[in-house]
Amino acid sequence: MNNQLSKVECKTENGYIVVPKGLVNVIVDKTEISGVDPKGEHTIYRGYTIDDIGANASFYEATYLFLKGRLPCEDELRELKKKIDYWRGRVPEKVFDALRYAPKTHPMFYGSYGVALLGQYYAPEWSFDLDSLYEHAIRVIAQLPVIFAAGWNLAYNGYLPRPDPGLDHAYDVLKMIIGREPSKIEARAFESTLVLYMDHGFNASTFTVRVIASTLSDLYSAVAGGISALKGPLHGGANEKAMEMLLEVREKAEKAGKPMEDYIEEYILDKLSRKEKIMGFGHRVYKVHDPRTDVAARFIAQLEDGDFWLRVLKRAEEVMWREKRLPANIDFYTAVLYYQLGIPIPMYTPIFAMGRVVGWSSHYIEQVSDNKIIRPTEKYVGPTGLKYKPLEERCKA
Ligand SMILES: CC(C)(COP(=O)(O)OP(=O)(O)OC[C@H]1O[C@@H](n2cnc3c(N)ncnc32)[C@H](O)[C@@H]1OP(=O)(O)O)[C@@H](O)C(=O)NCCC(=O)NCCS
Repeated sequence: MNNQLSKVECKTENGYIVVPKGLVNVIVDKTEISGVDPKGEHTIYRGYTIDDIGANASFYEATYLFLKGRLPCEDELRELKKKIDYWRGRVPEKVFDALRYAPKTHPMFYGSYGVALLGQYYAPEWSFDLDSLYEHAIRVIAQLPVIFAAGWNLAYNGYLPRPDPGLDHAYDVLKMIIGREPSKIEARAFESTLVLYMDHGFNASTFTVRVIASTLSDLYSAVAGGISALKGPLHGGANEKAMEMLLEVREKAEKAGKPMEDYIEEYILDKLSRKEKIMGFGHRVYKVHDPRTDVAARFIAQLEDGDFWLRVLKRAEEVMWREKRLPANIDFYTAVLYYQLGIPIPMYTPIFAMGRVVGWSSHYIEQVSDNKIIRPTEKYVGPTGLKYKPLEERCKA
């Protein structure tokens, strides 16, 4: 951490602080929700390591931890589960009607569109009373996955999947996405990835949510902004790109008559020689190892073709470490895990959002609870002193 800080070139100009482009290595605020530990080795979820909670906590437990700052007791857990399951089954019917008319497009659009619609139903008047904020957080956490599953299946498969509030959240959401009953281990693997995706410090979408929160806009609008930021290929889109790449490797390996775990080496070397990035590798925080991949790997091993996929992943990691000293990140592993579950590739980033909405909601509450509008200052470098000319006097040689 100190090394990182020493790299910051912090200049002042006319009394203003000039920070590096992209806010690289800039601390913009403090948070008690998640972040890198002081040694710079682990991401911490409210005091616990991300992989500990990812491996062990249920979706409900982790959600409680994020919203309330500690793991729940039995009655608190029961109460939260009841609320999430209740609201999952209560998406306003008119939101589904609107999704019926949405064009076939990337499903991330259904999320930002659908959650903005939720705001029109739930937040025409907005209160910053803490209990009310928790209630709305639970609604958006419960309903966002239903909106994604509905938008996707209406557009691409011609039917509206209905949630079943009697089922466990992760199980029900996975069932709505894949259109079949998942096995117990499939549902648990899926649940664990939702938890692993829940939060990660001041990443781009979380920061977007905090900026919107700081204007005292409502939570639904802030989540719509978070989804829009997550959609970008430099942020949430990497798991989809990683799987598309792995499928291309498999196809080319078959054509070349070589085992995929061997062929992937020449594929990576070829891409690197053309200075192309390998999606699912590299990370701003984890420079040696992303501990979330260990949790995902344990589940991959228990799903279809687990040994095969792990051999392919490990081989790719060996090559990338040898060539670039870059570790695989969580997206490389969730890509395979979601493929094993039969999830359509365009739904990978929406699933990231279904987990991250817990972090966004927690950050929204933290921001408005101690608010200062986030409004940096620019350095204007364009021309000055120009004077308006009437149209007939403009553009003359
Ligand atoms: C995650 C990521 C954005 C981190 O970015 P960053 O910390 O700013 O690191 P940079 O993009 O500046 O990369 C540093 C160097 O490693 C290289 N590099 C980083 N990720 C790479 C990758 N996935 N494949 C090949 N080379 C990579 C860069 O080309 C750069 O090399 P250079 O110094 O020779 O120019 C970046 O690693 C990346 O684009 N990864 C692929 C997308 C991805 O998997 N995203 C999910 C993150 S959870």
